[in-house]
Amino acid sequence: MTQLIGISGSLRNNSLNTALLASASELAPEGTTLRVASLASIPLYNGDLDIDGGPEPIRALKEQIGAADGLVLATPEYNYGIPGVLKNAIDWASRPAFRSVLAGAVGTARAQAQLRQVLAGTLSEVFPHPDFLLANAHEKIQQGALVDEGSRVLLREMLERYVSWING
Ligand code: FNR
Repeated sequence: MTQLIGISGSLRNNSLNTALLASASELAPEGTTLRVASLASIPLYNGDLDIDGGPEPIRALKEQIGAADGLVLATPEYNYGIPGVLKNAIDWASRPAFRSVLAGAVGTARAQAQLRQVLAGTLSEVFPHPDFLLANAHEKIQQGALVDEGSRVLLREMLERYVSWING
């Protein structure tokens, strides 16, 4: 059994990225589960609060990431970069430095070069596969589901490759 945790860089109820993760969880290969973790209650990173694993929502997030075999990130682009919400969560998850739940764990980036750059600082192993980019996402995602058949095929293939890479 392979367990994946999905994290969306958008907090919006109708987020296309969160919807994409829901579809990824449906399309995940046999024997793989993809559960989506919420960043809604994650506070802003503050080194003063970063003691004993941090506040409760942080400890819960790190526990979920630590227990998973892989992390699937879906992110919007905000002004050519990743949203502060996602960077903030990665900052929390990257602590304690060198011993964090991200270090040595497998990770995959569904995002821009910047996300890979940030993950490089966390010692994550990033899936060496081109990013899954969804152009015209508002047309391809309808009522919270990825409906574009070509994109579904590509996403399914990518998840299959990711899971074999994790277990390979
Ligand atoms: C955006 N958006 C955006 N899109 C893009 O392609 N390049 C960009 O630089 C930006 N910048 C940007 C900044 C801010 C502050 C917002 C709120 C939005 C559009 C954005 O990526 C798009 O609305 C996504 O659909 C948002 O993702 P969710 O919330 O649907 O998951």
